[in-house]
Amino acid sequence: MAGEVQRGLEDVVALESRICFIDGKQGRLIYRGYDIRDLAARSTFEEVAYLLWYGRLPTAAQLGELARRLESLREIPAELARLIDLLPASAGPMDVLRTAVSALALLEPGEGTPGPTSIGGAQRLTAALPTILGAFHRRRGHLPPLEPRPGLSHAAYLVYALLGREPSELESRAIDVALILHADHDLNASTFAARVTASTLSDLYSAVTSAVGTLKGPLHGGANERVMELLDEIGAAERAEEVVRAKLERHERIMGFGHRVYKVEDPRATILREWSRKVGEAKGNLRYYHLLEKVVEVVHREKGLYPNIDLYSGSVYSLLGIPHDLFTPVFASSRVVGWTAHVLEEYDDLRLIRPTSRYVGPTDLAYVPVADRA
Ligand code: ACO
Repeated sequence: MAGEVQRGLEDVVALESRICFIDGKQGRLIYRGYDIRDLAARSTFEEVAYLLWYGRLPTAAQLGELARRLESLREIPAELARLIDLLPASAGPMDVLRTAVSALALLEPGEGTPGPTSIGGAQRLTAALPTILGAFHRRRGHLPPLEPRPGLSHAAYLVYALLGREPSELESRAIDVALILHADHDLNASTFAARVTASTLSDLYSAVTSAVGTLKGPLHGGANERVMELLDEIGAAERAEEVVRAKLERHERIMGFGHRVYKVEDPRATILREWSRKVGEAKGNLRYYHLLEKVVEVVHREKGLYPNIDLYSGSVYSLLGIPHDLFTPVFASSRVVGWTAHVLEEYDDLRLIRPTSRYVGPTDLAYVPVADRA
């Protein structure tokens, strides 16, 4: 017998997990037992990746080993580089990423095989995503391919791959924190898509391909790009009230606000707001920060909605010079750790994910042969 329909699976508890806990009422986010505020203040992306994959914080030796391993896995196969060169320069970077991850599954079939060894595939994908994005971004800009640059952290390498320059210490840390904050978020839509794929015993690269396609949507990973479009539309802080109210009157959604789970401010937004200010101060450009504060005030007053992480991430990336259409791919470069941690957990405790629907269509129509249909 079908139960009550929960549209959008809201509040449905689909499985047990030890990876990530969101307390939507208190505004807390926990990775493997550790508060995101401690991790954002004190750890690095590599350390968080280790934590999410292995379930514990690494020793210094383990951390060093993982950092070296990720660095050694950055280069992509020549066939993939050629494929990226063949894609239209006008392609969306998330489409390129989806195609490239899928192509890697063909080029490295053993890496993503279901089972504990998939950790190799998880690390391979995490290390390679910045290289894939950088290769495509440089090609569409008619820029020469980059030389490998050893010794960079994952965050610094991401900036190097995308922009062809090493970030300052502050920029590198800002991206590192953004990557930490995006690394996992329980059963969000893209992670759920990855787990559904893995639950059929499909391979890890297929699961990540599903996840990339799901993250692309503007209600999920695509929101930060739209936030910057909103800021461009507003232009000056004194127009924020008018533009936002007009959108709300037309029942349009304001990107970067609201969340399915958080009923208070998203703790990741609280942390990134500070980084938006810090990077803005360092660059002598607090325009985005002031605009965003005004938008927050109006949206909260008019709709009672709080900001989510996407409200602030775009301003940090823009201040570094990252193009808007690479924002969601930057998100993917971090979330790939969460996706793969969840896929590994799924393999470990496998049960095919297969819900049912409540059928509301007819059941007793008389069949009419095609020749007799009007
Ligand atoms: N702007 C305006 N109104 C909103 C917004 C928003 N951003 N978010 C929710 N609402 C309103 C809805 O219109 C609805 O109002 P109504 O009851 O009067 O019709 C009410 O709040 C509830 O909205 P739902 O869509 O039912 O809430 P849901 O939990 O499904 O939505 C979501 C969550 C999709 C994130 C939504 O808040 C939204 O569209 N936000 C904008 C997109 C965004 O910022 N996405 C990033 C999410 S974080 C991430 O993926 C990293």
